[in-house]
Amino acid sequence: SESGCLSIVVLGASGDLAKKKTFPALFHLFQQGFLQAGEVHIFGYARSNLSDDGLRERIRGYLKGASDEHVSQFLQLIKYVSGSYDSGEGFELLNNAISEYETSKNNESGSYHRLFYLALPPSVYPSVCKMIRSYCMNPYSHTGWTRVIVEKPFGKDLDSSEKLSAELGKLFEEDQLYRIDHYLGKELVQNLLVLRFANRLFLPLWNRDNIANVQIVFKEDFGTEGRGGYFDQYGIIRDIIQNHLLQVFCLVAMEKPVSLKPEHIRDEKVKVLQSVEPIKHEEVVIGQYDGYKDDPTVPDESNTPTYASVVLRVHNERWEGVPFILKAGKALNSRKAEIRVQFKDAPGDIFRCKKQGRNEFVIRLQPSEAMYMKLTVKKPGLEMSTEQSELDLSYGMRYQDVKIPEAYERLILDTIRGDQQHFVRRDELRAAWEIFTPLLHDIDAGKLKSVSYKPGTRGPQEADEMSRRMGYMQTHGYIWVPPTLA
Ligand code: BG6
Repeated sequence: SESGCLSIVVLGASGDLAKKKTFPALFHLFQQGFLQAGEVHIFGYARSNLSDDGLRERIRGYLKGASDEHVSQFLQLIKYVSGSYDSGEGFELLNNAISEYETSKNNESGSYHRLFYLALPPSVYPSVCKMIRSYCMNPYSHTGWTRVIVEKPFGKDLDSSEKLSAELGKLFEEDQLYRIDHYLGKELVQNLLVLRFANRLFLPLWNRDNIANVQIVFKEDFGTEGRGGYFDQYGIIRDIIQNHLLQVFCLVAMEKPVSLKPEHIRDEKVKVLQSVEPIKHEEVVIGQYDGYKDDPTVPDESNTPTYASVVLRVHNERWEGVPFILKAGKALNSRKAEIRVQFKDAPGDIFRCKKQGRNEFVIRLQPSEAMYMKLTVKKPGLEMSTEQSELDLSYGMRYQDVKIPEAYERLILDTIRGDQQHFVRRDELRAAWEIFTPLLHDIDAGKLKSVSYKPGTRGPQEADEMSRRMGYMQTHGYIWVPPTLA
């Protein structure tokens, strides 16, 4: 465990994100011995009038896979403080509670740490951060740190995002701000750097000479039920593509960093983002599923996309001419996220016409984490014919005894350890908004129209047509099925 005395404050403690993600992640860390009773205390803060036990009971139902006793031990670490997000009173109470805990501890090593997790809508970030800054900072008499975790949406476009960054930047140093993008906490996303830069196999192939196109795909088989009000203000590009898929894109496309230092990695991410060319309207398809507007919180005339396919082009020596297709949709036929790197055809091919498809390297982020390479082999048997098969590294088979950690769990631990590698830096956020802001403004102004698609399908046909136009070749008569244990 980490030494010293740690106070974790979850602001918005009675909300959905806190219950579904933050507290369960803290519980998993506790279960694995990273947060030890006596070294850590957790404070929930929200407006509701609750007792400590009231909050604990609200959380209990979300902590699964452990004995009641273990859950109770964890819940005993949690205290509740109630107050508003913009008045000093509540934050003074919060600070008193933290200080009381800190002084009650026999802390020989002498360092005190305070971690604030903002499980709140971004509209209150500036006022909450101001309150933390004025009332709840780690006192100067202590050694240790104060860190703040925030999560998207960071604004709605370049200007609003920059405004928010500037406001937070006045209150906290960049090394105190942890901007979460939970896709960066997924196992196979974290594996991308290792895969690309530790394998001789990939090094010479990872460029325009060999790769025909790259797709980064997010699909969900449910709609925006229950969060239509939020969603309609943002749409799928702001909800998924500008952050989650773009982060994955960076790790696929960036150059090799000088070292694994967080700043070196993030420097490369910023560089590749800055090399992205302006998005062309004819390389975008947006869609909205039938029935989306039945949600009473969604206006009848909404043009908000619940599906989008956007082509990014990188203007550099490695990628000139290679389309990166970023695709995300709600209410589709399946739930998965994956990266598909499609290679060019083998030149001078002697097996003409008989091949089913191209080499394609697929990284399945979820569900059933896997990497597989689609390749052509001789069909086993007496005949000399070819067929499509795969080299398959399915994590469920290969790592049977390993429990893959949840994204939030890992990212909170990184914050405690002070490792910003998997967090979004301010200039990176800016570069991400620079790419998408013109397109988003055009969509908001109705210059691009969402085409409709039926829920439970692949999304608009126009998007498949665009992928074909980009040179993506679908494999015929072959489908990879995640292997299952006998
Ligand atoms: C969130 C989006 O950031 O990511 C949601 O706001 C989406 O709309 C979710 O459902 C997907 O996350 P995951 O980890 O389930 O793929």
